[in-house]
Amino acid sequence: MTIGICNDHTAVEYKVKLVAYLRRKGHEVVNFGTDSTDSCDYPDYAHQLGAALESGKVDAGIAMCGTGNGMAMCLNHYKGVRAGLAWTVPVAHVVKEHNNANVLVMPARFVSYRMVVSMTREWLTTGFAGGRHKRRIDKIEI
Ligand code: RB5
Repeated sequence: MTIGICNDHTAVEYKVKLVAYLRRKGHEVVNFGTDSTDSCDYPDYAHQLGAALESGKVDAGIAMCGTGNGMAMCLNHYKGVRAGLAWTVPVAHVVKEHNNANVLVMPARFVSYRMVVSMTREWLTTGFAGGRHKRRIDKIEI
């Protein structure tokens, strides 16, 4: 699976370590985030990941900024993108099981790197439950 990753200045260290972790696990990773800790604007990076998801260049995404909210707000403008925010492992589980999130969004300023890895692993290994949850996500697009 090819995973696109994006981040702003608040999550550079986590992004660098997470990219290495994902590659060790055999994933292809495309980096759309900043590699500088200089203050920047999260939409500049979120839009690159959103476009790559919409065009099929990447299969799924991971996004991190301070709270995660800015990234999620940008990414959810793209067709077929369901970017879901997670801050604990159980939330990372249900964001895939119930919402079939194809982008995992995490708040770098409010979680440890250890938690980022645990949430990523949970999201990657959980399946979508379908059924009533499929009906619900089908109602999201307007
Ligand atoms: C940057 O200070 C912060 O606003 C950004 O990382 C993010 O939390 C926005 O949603």
